[in-house]
Amino acid sequence: MQKKEQLYEGKAKKVYATDEPDLVIVSYKDDATAGDGAKKGTIRDKGIVNNRLSNALMQKLEQEGVPTHFVQQLSDRETLVKKVDIIPLEVIVRNVAAGHFSLRMGVEEGTPFKQPILEFSYKNDELHDPFINHYYALALGLATQEEIDAITAYAFKVNEVLKAVLLQANIRLIDFKLEFGRLADGTVVLADEISPDTCRFWDATTGAHLDKDLFRRDLGGEEDAYQEVMRRLLG
Ligand code: TMP
Ligand code: ASP
Repeated sequence: MQKKEQLYEGKAKKVYATDEPDLVIVSYKDDATAGDGAKKGTIRDKGIVNNRLSNALMQKLEQEGVPTHFVQQLSDRETLVKKVDIIPLEVIVRNVAAGHFSLRMGVEEGTPFKQPILEFSYKNDELHDPFINHYYALALGLATQEEIDAITAYAFKVNEVLKAVLLQANIRLIDFKLEFGRLADGTVVLADEISPDTCRFWDATTGAHLDKDLFRRDLGGEEDAYQEVMRRLLG
């Protein structure tokens, strides 16, 4: 597979064309941002951790019936994936109150929910990814009802699979953000990444943060935490 021109550079990844029109190469960077880019930094070897972890989790999800963009890991930082049109929704699942939920609702971080919450944001940095519901998505033509239904079912399935996988590594899955894309034939697949950048992982015994909140909140220790998550999940 030949790597060709760069198609896109995001905050945490670059995307390159290949000689196959339906396949692209994702390259994970160490760059980290928070607050829509207000805080910028790097987390050493984050790109390696996120690439390897995301690939392992997506392969597990494929086995469990969730279609993903994953094709093949090419190197520590690079992965071949199916080319998708990203659906501009941030699909968030929450098991325990934290982050923006706690701020918005006045519920203390760490409070478990009676059942998981599904939440949508409109993926738009200039607007700071505003909170929306599925009627907004339909009204604005961001996704169809069929796509929303598929995304909803996949998001809850991802939650069940990830919760179980992580608990085996003594990690509690607090919440996470997914992005979905459309293949050329319209099929909806899980895309983007699943990593400590996009999930809240707490040590199941101590409650210690093992995710990007260490960076977002200037708590420190993020490099070690990312390595720890990789060690626990991939050995
Ligand atoms: P929130 O509580 O800040 O809304 O975050 C919910 C989840 O989404 C959390 O696991 C972190 C993740 N997330 C992203 O992946 N990207 C983002 O830009 C934000 C704000 C959160
Ligand atoms: N998406 C956020 C940013 O743009 C990062 C985050 O909070 O995960 O800075």
